[in-house]
Amino acid sequence: MTQTLSSGHPTTDLPEIPPDVTPERYAEILRALSQASVDRHFDAFVDIDWDHPDFQVRPDDPRWVLPADVDPLGAHPWYQAQSLERQIAIGQWRQANILKVGLQFENILIRGIMQYVFTLPNGSPEFRYLTHEATEECHHTQMFQETVNRIGAPVEGMPWLMRRMAGVLAWAGSAVPYAFFIGVLAGEEPIDHTQKGILRSRTDLPPILSRVMEIHVAEEARHISFAHHYIRRNAPGLGRVEKLVISAVFPLIMRGLCDVIMKPPASFRREFGIPRSVMKDVYWRSPESRVRLQDLFGDVRMLADQARLRGNPLARLMWRLCRIDGRPSRYRSEPPVAFTRG
Ligand SMILES: [Fe+2]
Ligand SMILES: [Fe+2]
Repeated sequence: MTQTLSSGHPTTDLPEIPPDVTPERYAEILRALSQASVDRHFDAFVDIDWDHPDFQVRPDDPRWVLPADVDPLGAHPWYQAQSLERQIAIGQWRQANILKVGLQFENILIRGIMQYVFTLPNGSPEFRYLTHEATEECHHTQMFQETVNRIGAPVEGMPWLMRRMAGVLAWAGSAVPYAFFIGVLAGEEPIDHTQKGILRSRTDLPPILSRVMEIHVAEEARHISFAHHYIRRNAPGLGRVEKLVISAVFPLIMRGLCDVIMKPPASFRREFGIPRSVMKDVYWRSPESRVRLQDLFGDVRMLADQARLRGNPLARLMWRLCRIDGRPSRYRSEPPVAFTRG
């Protein structure tokens, strides 16, 4: 059970769950995940040296320019034609907004987890593991908010409607836990995939950003592992109609939350005078951006196949309509083709 930060490239050596897992085996896996949380965890105000001079956010630091190989806006000719000063300002605003959406999402997740664990019986192994997860998410919201504060951009994060719906979404944790954990994964996978891509690209990042991402990727491996286990384990217990509905809604939840996280809000476009056509290209009209969108969900397609939630015609149609169909990963965190070539 290792999450290594020393190289800056975290590993995800976590147990995989076979489809016909017994309750004993499931409990064992959750105990292993819980122990991993005890052995390797981070505190936002112990493990990050906020006052180190390298961690200061400066308006003339070119490391805030969006990396062209992993950020779709960073790769766009319009962005590359801007002055360096403006590229930095746009980069800082964009990173701040991603962190803000991330911490709002995690806030909903923590509330939903609390709703869910409140319903669990004595002796449930999920109680301990999920409480570890919520603890870690609290630290993530602190480190993300601290970074947003230091960047200083006036970002609001999620769209207005989503912020208003936060309480209802958290309630899904106890009302419809299966759909809730699909939503958890829908938030975690795009952020994790993007952060891993940035860390793998070996781009020279601002240290404040790379430190926060390294910590996040390391702990998120456990969270994503649990969500995969939960979804796979409970799929056989769904009724026939419920399974059909879930299989159709699964890609919708993935794509919907992905857009909330990945697409900057209208205020971003107005603030920097970004042409609408650029935003459309980047999210997700151009062929390259379509590929990026599909790449985000390789692991999720693998999971949906394992849970037998992608095989029926309606599900297949929905994955296609949401434009996130394609080849499933062969194993978790398999790098997309672009990385395996390099
Ligand atoms: Fe997190
Ligand atoms: Fe998480």
